[in-house]
Amino acid sequence: MKQAAPHIVQYQGSKRNLAPQILAYFPKKFNRLIEPFAGMAAVTIATAQQKRADMYVINDINFPLMTLLKSAIETPELLAANYNKLWREQFDFTNGSVEHYYHVRELFNSGEQDPEKILYLLARCVKGSVRYGKNGKFNQSPDKRRNGTNPKTLATNVHAISGLLKNKALFMSTDYREVLEMARPGDLVYMDPPYQGVSNVRDCRYLSGIDFNEFVEAVDSLNHRGIDFVISYDGKCGEKKYGNDLPEWLDCKKVYLNAGVSSQAVLLGKKDITYEALYISRNLKYRQMNVATQLSIFEELAV
Ligand SMILES: C[S@@+](CC[C@H](N)C(=O)[O-])C[C@H]1O[C@@H](n2cnc3c(N)ncnc32)[C@H](O)[C@@H]1O
Repeated sequence: MKQAAPHIVQYQGSKRNLAPQILAYFPKKFNRLIEPFAGMAAVTIATAQQKRADMYVINDINFPLMTLLKSAIETPELLAANYNKLWREQFDFTNGSVEHYYHVRELFNSGEQDPEKILYLLARCVKGSVRYGKNGKFNQSPDKRRNGTNPKTLATNVHAISGLLKNKALFMSTDYREVLEMARPGDLVYMDPPYQGVSNVRDCRYLSGIDFNEFVEAVDSLNHRGIDFVISYDGKCGEKKYGNDLPEWLDCKKVYLNAGVSSQAVLLGKKDITYEALYISRNLKYRQMNVATQLSIFEELAV
């Protein structure tokens, strides 16, 4: 089995495990991969590993996340050294390791948002999931059973990721619609917006939610401008369906990807598999259908 692409730190909603299935729907080669909702950029990293694009545009509205990715890719030694120092501090902290987490969280919330601090918080917090209070402060608790990614593992991973993306990535931290303006034919846009259950409301998991109608409008504009895109959207688990479908008039192809049995389901003693929907844009869908038709004609002729 192929090894999963390297990652910096676990991140709630990461597409790391699904990336091979998602990439199967990407064109073989394209100019730029644009990821407006990058999170920890699992799909960008997997795409770079397969050398499918020349350049990568990585954006997320969460600014500290983007400074973390930028430093991992552009200055991996410095990030690994600073993380190592901060991580070791927890064992010498007078009030104990858990209190050290709260201390770093306090510093982070008071404006000291250096990359190693968000990295340490993500590495130590419950399920790698960022949580923000109404005041916009990071308020996730520490996972008391773990000390966070070992600095050696971290250093190996950031160097691997840097090797894949250094001098090939542009980092932004703005609303996704601004990033979509940059897209041109020949690029591929991959979007993984926050789950719809938390859209339209202020999203405590991701700093901001998005409006469904505005999102549909943005997707429609990509179709009109002839830009290829792939979107991870709703999903289903057993009988339960999550979120609205994207409207049929967008003319996308919808497929379901097998995301396995969720840890939540295992805890509840269930075995339901979660399926995540993937929408493939109109232009990309028709091109893939043409290739499939040509292949089948070729096979018939070869018989
Ligand atoms: C489901 S996560 C993406 C996870 C990512 N695919 C990964 O593998 O790590 C959605 C991301 O969208 C970001 N986000 C939310 N609203 C946004 C907006 N209006 N513009 C850009 N990014 C936004 C959140 O900060 C969050 O990191």
